[in-house]
Amino acid sequence: MRRVLLSLFGIIGPLAAAPSYYRDIQPILQNQCQGCHQPASKASDLDVTTFEAFEKGGKRGPAFLPGKPDESSTVRYLTGAMKPRMPLAQPALAESDIILFREWIAAGAKDDSPADSTESDAAVYLQPPVITALKFSPDGQTIAVSGNREILLHKADGSKLLHRLPGRAERILSVAFSADGKLLIAGGGTPAQFGEVQIWDVATAKLLRSARLTNDTVFGASLAPDSSKIAVGCADNTVHVFETATGKELYKIGNHENWVLATVFGVDSKRFVSASSDRAAKLIDSASGAFLENVNLLRGELTAIARHPKKDIVVLGGVERYPYIYLMDRPRNMKIADDTTLVRKLDRQDGPINALDWSPDATRIAVASQSAAVNLYDPETGEKKASCTGHSAGIYTVAFSPDSAKLATGGFDGKVRVYSTKDCSLLHSFIPVPLSAGTP
Ligand code: HEC
Repeated sequence: MRRVLLSLFGIIGPLAAAPSYYRDIQPILQNQCQGCHQPASKASDLDVTTFEAFEKGGKRGPAFLPGKPDESSTVRYLTGAMKPRMPLAQPALAESDIILFREWIAAGAKDDSPADSTESDAAVYLQPPVITALKFSPDGQTIAVSGNREILLHKADGSKLLHRLPGRAERILSVAFSADGKLLIAGGGTPAQFGEVQIWDVATAKLLRSARLTNDTVFGASLAPDSSKIAVGCADNTVHVFETATGKELYKIGNHENWVLATVFGVDSKRFVSASSDRAAKLIDSASGAFLENVNLLRGELTAIARHPKKDIVVLGGVERYPYIYLMDRPRNMKIADDTTLVRKLDRQDGPINALDWSPDATRIAVASQSAAVNLYDPETGEKKASCTGHSAGIYTVAFSPDSAKLATGGFDGKVRVYSTKDCSLLHSFIPVPLSAGTP
């Protein structure tokens, strides 16, 4: 009854249902088409990264004719009326997505993107959100911090919010800068909806590429040291690997038996290790996705991994609370209960381990756990050197500064804290998001 009334008043019905370019069309273009149709690789001269470029079309003219879906080349390529069907070499779009294109074009193919999406999209915060990811830029000047549906770039001392990078993913669970500092990659998603990998241009604060994958957030996104590839772990037990330059998925692998929560590449970018709730850390050939060997002896569920800055040695940790330092390589095949590549086991933490980092000068490992402290260890001796306190609850992310002198931490209480790695004295702390006065 209510529905009938609403549609009588025109509140719902064909008009209200007209698809939006910004909400409906652009995300499909971004995820399914942009890999081939972007400024760097304009298949058939078509670039879909902006409305204007998409409108202009490709070799065969405009990509759509407002009001005329059946004569629009996009619809014709999507349905297969024009060959080859788009997206090329991939499964056809869902019928419901093709209908969105048809209806959007039928309704006039309007661009309803907000004029300045940075402003109008900006999340409003009544309280600081849980911090799940942060990293220093390679020049040490900036810290990237996760927010709600955005990444925030701050001056490293917290004195200024430089940029807000709004995306569609509700949560950002990992961030990484390329070695030259030009790109920022992020992994996250909207729970129970989609996972997303984002690739940002740091200088312009623009989203260059994004890829959606699986039906849930993705975890532990990491960038190869040579920036060529991005690996992410997923809740469907897979690891997906993307080409950074195009945002194209290269392959996915499914050799874990539970959520994959962390990944890290080896020094030469040719291999990576994935760590999972199935307790295993697996060494993978990053060119082919081939499984090479198991890194560890199975113990507790793994949630975090970090690599020595110059050697193929990793530190692993998780539910069992002990950080384990392992060689990535085995001189011989793994035998049953073979633990010969274990270099060192560090102290038991006061809570499950959430995050790890290895200082760029190789002299410290930071271990963050569900307890509110981050412990710093000397990886050579295993000795605990300092404990950084002040958080009121679990810590989810830690990152050393490029000069190894500072450690940034973030977690449940929503505050970024920056400590001296020498003695864990607190240098400064800040709330990374602009807080609005709430209506009670
Ligand atoms: C894997 C690469 C790839 C993907 C992904 C892809 N395309 Fe294409 N597209 C091509 C190539 C190659 C051509 C040229 C085909 C030809 O003419 O043989 C093309 C041509 C087109 C054309 C015709 C342009 C012109 O004027 O010549 C349209 C429109 C188009 N694609 C739309 C899309 C849409 C929409 C998507 C996403 C749903 C998509 N494409 C995804 C590679 C791709």
